[in-house]
Amino acid sequence: MPKPSLNDFLSKASFWPVAEVVGSAWIEHAPFAMWLMDAMRPSSVVELGTHNGYSFFAFCQAAKALGLDTELYAIDTWEGDVHSGHYDNSVYEYVQAVLERDYPERAHMVRTTFDDARPQFPDGSVDLIHVDGRHFYEERVGRPDPRRRSPLLRGRAARRRDVPTGTLGPWRHDPARHRGP
Ligand SMILES: C[S@@+](CC[C@H](N)C(=O)[O-])C[C@H]1O[C@@H](n2cnc3c(N)ncnc32)[C@H](O)[C@@H]1O
Repeated sequence: MPKPSLNDFLSKASFWPVAEVVGSAWIEHAPFAMWLMDAMRPSSVVELGTHNGYSFFAFCQAAKALGLDTELYAIDTWEGDVHSGHYDNSVYEYVQAVLERDYPERAHMVRTTFDDARPQFPDGSVDLIHVDGRHFYEERVGRPDPRRRSPLLRGRAARRRDVPTGTLGPWRHDPARHRGP
């Protein structure tokens, strides 16, 4: 097996400054998002859970800077949940305004539940899925394992993220990896 090198997971995109900084627990992951877009050059990206838009904006920014014709879909009710907190419509309006201003051609907001959005995406139609909804342990283990390949994916990678907090599912599921505060 070839020896891994820094160039396997770093590129110039890893160091791009984030254009739109908003409140998010995802702040430190933007360099990874930018690198992933550079490395994968996906045709389609679907995000489950967008809230203020931080992660979605990072994927959009990278697609634009790289000159990709990626179609990007943000799926959220924009109502919040028990982990992110419930919020008012100004959050949806803010994300919509940024996307219309900066990424009007290929960024799409799908305002519905994840389950209701599913029929809009045929199997094998998505290159990259970012899963960032609620983080209940029961939802994680009671459903198909999110670490397994989704039929939505065309053939490359899925990205998921978990918040390392003791009350949240991933920490209970894998406490060695997700240490609580
Ligand atoms: C952790 S936040 C997303 C954070 C965002 N990715 C960021 O970069 O900061 C989770 C979001 O998922 C949404 N959400 C949770 N469960 C959902 C569901 N079943 N259908 C649609 N949206 C959902 C909530 O409304 C909330 O805005």
